Amino acid sequence: MITNTELEQKGNQYPNHIVSYEKNIDTLHFRTENGVVLQLTIVRDSILRFRYATNCNFENDFSYAISKYAKTGYNYLEIKETKDIYIITTSKVICRIFKSNLKVKLFDAIDNTLICQDEIGFHWEESYEYGGNIVKMSKVSHDGESYYGLGDKADHLNLKGKRFENWVSDSFAYGKYTDPLYKSIPFYTGLHHGRSYGVFFDNTFRSNFDFSHERKNVTSFWAVGGEMNYYFIYGPKMNDVVSKYTDLTGKPHQLPPMWTLGYHQCKWSYYPEAKVKEITSTFRALQIPCDAIYLDIDYMEGFRCFTWNKEYFPDPKRMVKELADDGFKTIVIIDPGIKIDPEYAIFKEGLDNDYFCRRADGPHMKGKVWPGQCVFPDYTNKDVRSWWADLFKELVEDIGVKGVWNDMNEPAIMEVPNKTFPDDVRHDYDGNPCSHRKAHNIYGMQMARATYQGLKKFAYPKRPFVITRAAYAGTQRYSSTWTGDNVATWEHLWIANVQAQRMALSGFSFVGSDIGGFAEQPNGELFTRWIQLGVFHPFCRTHSSGDHGDQEPWMFGDEVTDIVRAFIELRYQLLPYLYTAFWQYLDEGTPILKSLVLFDQEDIQTHYRTDEFIYGNDILVCPILEPNSKGRRMYIPRGNWYNHWTNEFVKGGREIWVDADLDTMPIFIKEGTIIPKYPIQQYVGEQKFDEITLEVRYKLGKEQSLLFDDAHDGYDYTKGRYSLSKFKLTGKANELIINQHTTGSFTTPYTRFKLKFIGIPFEISKIEIDNVEITFEALQRSKLTQELIVDKTFTEIHIM
Ligand code: NOJ
Repeated sequence: MITNTELEQKGNQYPNHIVSYEKNIDTLHFRTENGVVLQLTIVRDSILRFRYATNCNFENDFSYAISKYAKTGYNYLEIKETKDIYIITTSKVICRIFKSNLKVKLFDAIDNTLICQDEIGFHWEESYEYGGNIVKMSKVSHDGESYYGLGDKADHLNLKGKRFENWVSDSFAYGKYTDPLYKSIPFYTGLHHGRSYGVFFDNTFRSNFDFSHERKNVTSFWAVGGEMNYYFIYGPKMNDVVSKYTDLTGKPHQLPPMWTLGYHQCKWSYYPEAKVKEITSTFRALQIPCDAIYLDIDYMEGFRCFTWNKEYFPDPKRMVKELADDGFKTIVIIDPGIKIDPEYAIFKEGLDNDYFCRRADGPHMKGKVWPGQCVFPDYTNKDVRSWWADLFKELVEDIGVKGVWNDMNEPAIMEVPNKTFPDDVRHDYDGNPCSHRKAHNIYGMQMARATYQGLKKFAYPKRPFVITRAAYAGTQRYSSTWTGDNVATWEHLWIANVQAQRMALSGFSFVGSDIGGFAEQPNGELFTRWIQLGVFHPFCRTHSSGDHGDQEPWMFGDEVTDIVRAFIELRYQLLPYLYTAFWQYLDEGTPILKSLVLFDQEDIQTHYRTDEFIYGNDILVCPILEPNSKGRRMYIPRGNWYNHWTNEFVKGGREIWVDADLDTMPIFIKEGTIIPKYPIQQYVGEQKFDEITLEVRYKLGKEQSLLFDDAHDGYDYTKGRYSLSKFKLTGKANELIINQHTTGSFTTPYTRFKLKFIGIPFEISKIEIDNVEITFEALQRSKLTQELIVDKTFTEIHIM
């Protein structure tokens, strides 16, 4: 334990004893003799917000991260005072605040278990150079405590023993352990004694987290400005911590159009038009499903955003329409750098309206990006965001572009040592003017937000689609994301897997990596293994810099093409399953990818597992991460599972060897679940199906599964025009019963389900659908095929 004298020697100050206490509705204020104020807000029974001021002086309370739709309100609040402490009790948490030093201890309200405890707690150092404070918090790290979260860190899933920085950074060809990267998500979860809680440090300055790295029993976090302002979120299930955090910082504002969940093909760059068409027609000729084709910076005129190179793309509107007729949605890149060019309309408009960022003493912030010297819109200004949004009219409404990809929005500047704006650049910060030190980490987020606003407006009545490279907590409301400029190596395949899981655990599920690697070129084997992982990421896009060769699925020989096709087909078959998982993510904040620790935190075997994850609720996936593999060892979490390929029944809670030649990878399905599947199509909406498949895996016991459906685009689902089927499966020794309960007013285009039964342990002798026995012929057929075709409206199927 560090002593107060040592702390002081290091220039730190810390609160002394509480001299006054006030309560104002849901917020309590504790003031110390040396002018520290702790403002404690009861956000929900399980969410407490801690905000500390020094010199009795709070900043304007403003956050880009917190969603205006976040749930608030509590059921129970009791405040007690003893000689030494204040005790604040909600129905979920007990918070004890020590009068002598303002330290905090948090307990589970049900059984009084200690969950989280200040070590030194809040302390600070005055920053003479910039003004304000370096604000710090330290907590006791409990025995066996593990830590997760923090967004896109390229490190082991369990963060224990490590230190990280949050400073959104362009990180071309980063590696394992490179830190910081493109995103800043200052949220982590702690797990000890089977309980999990979360801490969201909502401070946009450069921040650091130390998880028992510097001092074994201490976890701390600090930022070089702003306030110590954090939310404590209690589970005790980590899954609930993550969904509460996601609710607090916002779920995506609408479902993604279903086509965005298909396969995307990208390269830097496909041009001219003939090349784009060659790529898209090869997809169709080879019957490899694909929904989206990307245009990287070369589609523009001299890299000027919102322009077209008319030599490469003489008639964009016609091209985009022809691509759309073939099922391809065109997605274009838009960067923040606006070329300094007096003839360029967007530059002139921005200049005339004073929309570009300025240095402290007045001149514009100028920096080099692809087009040469650029200026940069201040997206932290509402008017600038509206202007930016309106710039998408032509691209989206007139030309028919379906999605926009925001890149370089850290913001990335070339040929300068710090790779971004200097600290003194000024930002509006929505009426809270500040320097780049405070605005840096949210710059990309606000750009994505402005782009989202434009897409939302001009794609209407369809849904918007945005992809961003830079992000801060809460960006998931507006955009999907990818993990930036990775490299075609096996190590990066490992990183992609960890990053996607970690992002999902940090509230941002719509994530994927550049499949195959952005820099350098994969061989066929690596590309295949990456596709196998990538089809289980919510955002599934192949992208490469193109410097070292092509990366389309057919570039690695017929064997690879066939395997890649089969895996992309599997993704398309599972679209209704992924779409349902997305709906759950929007509904409850449930992450779409679940690291094993999220799936079963009570099993300590899961605490250090990194490779395996659950896709949606029921599918266990483990990528092959090494060359020349014939299979691998993996951990099967507790419960019973069926091997996806062989239907073999596998008992979990142990590590096993799983065969996986190049054409397969370890995939297991949880027993008792009902997995919906579409027939294969080349793009979303290519076919109207009359029938969809439900794969039913027998379980002795009960299980529940969901199927969400709607028009796959547009906003009708928000008015009740969706269809949500809850399937309840009950398996007994000689019986299997499936109940269906459907809500919502959407009429699905399919009229029948084809049920495929897997693992029924008894000889079927009788089947009843809604209490009516099926005919002898139908029964014989089902016995033979283990399949049954039923009207989609069934309420009960009883198999005996
Ligand atoms: C950097 C991005 O990360 C990459 O995806 C893109 O292709 C290049 N910029 C060129 O726009």
